[in-house]
Amino acid sequence: MGRSYKVSRRDFVKLVSGFFGTIMGAGIALPAIGYVLDPALKSGGAREQWIPLGPVDQYQVGVPAPFNFTRTQVNGWERTSSSYGGFVVRESETDFKVLSNICTHLGCRVAWEETENAYVCPCHDAAFTVDGEVISGPPPRPLDEYEFKIEDGNLFIFFKEG
Ligand code: FES
Repeated sequence: MGRSYKVSRRDFVKLVSGFFGTIMGAGIALPAIGYVLDPALKSGGAREQWIPLGPVDQYQVGVPAPFNFTRTQVNGWERTSSSYGGFVVRESETDFKVLSNICTHLGCRVAWEETENAYVCPCHDAAFTVDGEVISGPPPRPLDEYEFKIEDGNLFIFFKEG
């Protein structure tokens, strides 16, 4: 003979609300636990890495080539995107220089002006030579350079989150 259990209406309501309460609690708690236990895995990429800038053959000698890239950092619920850029300067068949486009005065972005044969900063009228030396204006030093390497005919720059 089987046994039968009777569940009162009050117990049934407690059981059901307890069940749904547990599910909802887990839904809220799990992402928070993930963040607390493993913030490193939630990070949106390495803080240092080699960024590919394509085949070296695409860069002409003496013509600064602009490039840009974006890095997204994920920290818990927060996503922060930052853009970076600069210029690849092929000085000869074998010599390269990769310059940042951040002005060394107060951090505005410089642009290459063909007519002036210079990088020009729009903020305080600074100018830099094609290889980044200060021509005029308030910047205290040349444009910063990215470390780079060439592997299998491709150019890479070393990016380090500052
Ligand atoms: S920020 Fe470039 S000259 Fe001031």
